[in-house]
Amino acid sequence: MDFTHEMHVDKPKILIVDDEEMNLNLLEAYLFNRGYELYMARDGEEALEKISNHLPDLILLDVRLPKIDGLEVCRQIKGNDKTRLIPVILITALDQLEDKIMGIDAGAEEYMLKPINKLELLATVIRWIKVKRSNDHLESVENVIFSIARFIEKKDFYTQGHTDRVSAYAYNLGKKIYLQQEELDIIKKGGALHDVGKIGIPDAILSKPGRLTEEEYKIIKTHPVLGYEMCLPLKKTMGQIIPIIRNHHEKLDGSGYPDGLKGDQISVYTRIMAIADVFDALTTDRPYRPSMTIERAIRIMREESERGWWDKDLLEEFIKMREEKS
Ligand SMILES: [Fe+2]
Repeated sequence: MDFTHEMHVDKPKILIVDDEEMNLNLLEAYLFNRGYELYMARDGEEALEKISNHLPDLILLDVRLPKIDGLEVCRQIKGNDKTRLIPVILITALDQLEDKIMGIDAGAEEYMLKPINKLELLATVIRWIKVKRSNDHLESVENVIFSIARFIEKKDFYTQGHTDRVSAYAYNLGKKIYLQQEELDIIKKGGALHDVGKIGIPDAILSKPGRLTEEEYKIIKTHPVLGYEMCLPLKKTMGQIIPIIRNHHEKLDGSGYPDGLKGDQISVYTRIMAIADVFDALTTDRPYRPSMTIERAIRIMREESERGWWDKDLLEEFIKMREEKS
């Protein structure tokens, strides 16, 4: 079933940015009367203002602009969570080909050469509007999954605030080891979603006061695969988050679940998540035991990393990070 059509009754919005009136008029004429809502900007500052006011679906961006140049505008678009999925087509003259490399580096989707060919422009615009709409669709499905993750937490008294804390621990640990912003975003989302598969675990088991039977524990242990299967159709936008969901209970010596992965088979994101998850579990109340002190939790986790469960270096960075904060 395709809901894309129903979801977007609005015309796609295109922002055209060029400092030369002639170019602006030309692009406008090419795109006029084709079902788009067109906006114009004549410099980088005006472009950024119109982007935040109108959230266009596509931006045609001249590279050489007064005030803020096109590359900087592009970097700002791509560095902002609200706008980073808007496709940016850079427009540059043949003698400014070095702009191409810098433009791709700034995160632009594509570049076009002046003089602009009308058919090429239309084909490019149609293609990127399609991509944008499909990403919008995926993003809204992604939001539903985030809501489900929050909902599960509300159901389970013992895990109140768990995902937020795990997400924050993991994010800060990632920052401490100098991961890039993009990687930190993956970790943050992974933290928010790691237990989303618990939606498939019966409430009676999920919030059972007291210890679980072996049978119940087996059922709980299916949650990483359930979460994985739930998010798999979104692999286009959630590609790197999905393995975190599946493997956050793996241990470096292969004794974890569900896949018994070992060492390098477990990504650094997932190792970080495991440390954050276990630390939060130990330092908060559980149905079968009260919370531990931070010192005791750290001692236990150090022993466990000696045993080969957790990444020793990451754990030490995590401990240092905790000490610096307190
Ligand atoms: Fe889990």
